[in-house]
Amino acid sequence: MAGLFRFTPGDIVISREEVVYAYRMILGREPENEAVVAEQVAGFGDLKSLRNGFLHSTEFLRQAVSLIGPEPVIPELQAEQPIDVACSPEQLKRLLASVEATWSQLGKEEPYWSVLTSDRYRSENFSQNEDKYWSTGIVDVRRMKAWLERNGVASTARQRCLEYGCGTGRVTHWLAREFRQVTGCDISQAHLDLAQRAISSRIEPSQEVDFFHVRNLKSLDRLPEFEFLFSFIVLQHNPPPVITYILDKLLARLAEGGIAFFQLPTYWKYYTFTTQAYLSRKAAVAGTDSQMEMHVVPQRYIFEIARRHGCKVLEVQPDGMASSREIVSHTFLLRKSS
Ligand SMILES: C[S@@+](CC[C@H](N)C(=O)[O-])C[C@H]1O[C@@H](n2cnc3c(N)ncnc32)[C@H](O)[C@@H]1O
Repeated sequence: MAGLFRFTPGDIVISREEVVYAYRMILGREPENEAVVAEQVAGFGDLKSLRNGFLHSTEFLRQAVSLIGPEPVIPELQAEQPIDVACSPEQLKRLLASVEATWSQLGKEEPYWSVLTSDRYRSENFSQNEDKYWSTGIVDVRRMKAWLERNGVASTARQRCLEYGCGTGRVTHWLAREFRQVTGCDISQAHLDLAQRAISSRIEPSQEVDFFHVRNLKSLDRLPEFEFLFSFIVLQHNPPPVITYILDKLLARLAEGGIAFFQLPTYWKYYTFTTQAYLSRKAAVAGTDSQMEMHVVPQRYIFEIARRHGCKVLEVQPDGMASSREIVSHTFLLRKSS
């Protein structure tokens, strides 16, 4: 065993079988020969030190790293490139229309893969992996519950939840168990149709879920009332002026005392966004480009929007959700004052 970390041996009280099982259970293999087994029997004074020795061996640590992956690398934050976070109403309309075109197309072509970009959720593989797909949403809800619990947020059972960017309803049916009512909003009718179709077989008759299509900017003024905002892996696909506009509308609509729990990327080295240049580029490739995009809004703008709506920041943490090591994504938990 490579790099074994040894403790001072005491009396020999461990058996040959215990050493063999340590090889099998911790290193996942048989010992090389009886000589090495005898060496471990003689080398460790008790079971605790045998276990510690195996858990600290280079061989085990190498396996552990390949199982859980290396520590995420947080890029060194540097000065930003220019980022437009606001634009004219006309530009905003065009930006949102472009988001709508991309996601409607993705919703028609690869709806499940567009939500979780693993090949197992591509259309040709989806039927074999469907159960797995629908089960993944519980992770998001468990995480939400842990955040709420440690921040002393009381039960959500009487609240109405607005899930902004619900996609196919992957998380919606899990959220339905936690709230009095859930409204899933999305810009893509194709995603909403799938969510609508899937939801009835995944919730109890007593659980209440409905859906809302965000057709355009005006839709954001007609959102239903809610006490809880939930939005993950959604805002990141919108240009910065759209993100700030939507967040502003959502927090304006959030009830007093309500909670906002959402995610978005806040830093990406070399990221820059100029509305005019972006729209010109989009116009040049009109109709041929349905690539999922990633965008960023620096934290200070989010804090400013929160402040404007009387929201207190309860917690902000990096979350690794932007699927690139170069992008720093954060989850925000806010409470609106009552
Ligand atoms: C990656 S999927 C995530 C879906 C869902 N949040 C989940 O975790 O399963 C992103 C979803 O956000 C929707 N979306 C993107 N931009 C949006 C916007 N501006 N307004 C509403 N929905 C949007 C897309 O149509 C898509 O369904």
